[in-house]
Amino acid sequence: MYWNGAYEIIRLKPEDYRKCTNIWDMEKDPERTKRWYDQLVSGNRVTFVYTGNGEFIGEGSLVFEINDPDYTIPGRRIYLSRLIVKNGHRGRGIGGIIVDYLVDYAKRLGYREMSIGVDIDNVVARHLYEKKGFTDVIFEGEDEAGRYVKLLKKL
Ligand SMILES: CC(C)(COP(=O)(O)OP(=O)(O)OC[C@H]1O[C@@H](n2cnc3c(N)ncnc32)[C@H](O)[C@@H]1OP(=O)(O)O)[C@@H](O)C(=O)NCCC(=O)NCCS
Repeated sequence: MYWNGAYEIIRLKPEDYRKCTNIWDMEKDPERTKRWYDQLVSGNRVTFVYTGNGEFIGEGSLVFEINDPDYTIPGRRIYLSRLIVKNGHRGRGIGGIIVDYLVDYAKRLGYREMSIGVDIDNVVARHLYEKKGFTDVIFEGEDEAGRYVKLLKKL
C-alpha cells in the first residue's frame, strides 16, 4: 500500500473487480471485461487502483505474459495494461502517479523493460508515456481499433 495522506494506491482483489465500474463502463465490452478478470484471478495480471476517500478514481495494470514477444518476455519485459483515470479527475497528475507506481513495482520484481500499446491519436496518453520514458517505438501498425504504436521503456 502507498499512502501520502491524500490518496492511497491499493492492489485490486478479484472480489472487488466490479468496483472498477466507477472508473470505466464494464458493460461496454463484456468479453474484454471478462478476460481481464480471468487474468486477475489467475495471477497473470496485477491491478493497482488509485483511491481518494475510498472512491476508485484511476487504475493501471501489469500483465506478466501475453502471447506477443513485443509485449512480454518472461522475467525481463512486462506489459502495462489499461491505464485509466475517471473522467473529471484527469489532468491532475494521477495518471503519472499510477505509471510511477507500476514502474517501481516492476523494478522491485526484477523486470528490466516495460511495454505498452497506445493509439496513434491518443495524444494525452502518448505525451504522458513519453514523459515517463517510454521513448522507444518498437512497432507501428494497425488493428481493428486503428493505428497504434508499441512503446518500450528501460527500467
Ligand atoms: C491517459 C490518462 C490515463 C492520463 O491520466 P491523467 O491523470 O490525466 O494524466 P496526468 O495528469 O498525470 O498527465 C496528463 C498529461 O497530459 C497533458 N494533457 C492533458 N490534456 C491534454 C491534451 N488535451 N493534449 C495534450 N496534453 C494534455 C497534461 O498537461 C499532462 O502533461 P504535463 O504533466 O506535461 O502537464 C487519462 O487521460 C485517461 O484515462 N484517458 C483515457 C484512457 C486512456 O486513453 N488510457 C491510455 C490507454 S494506452
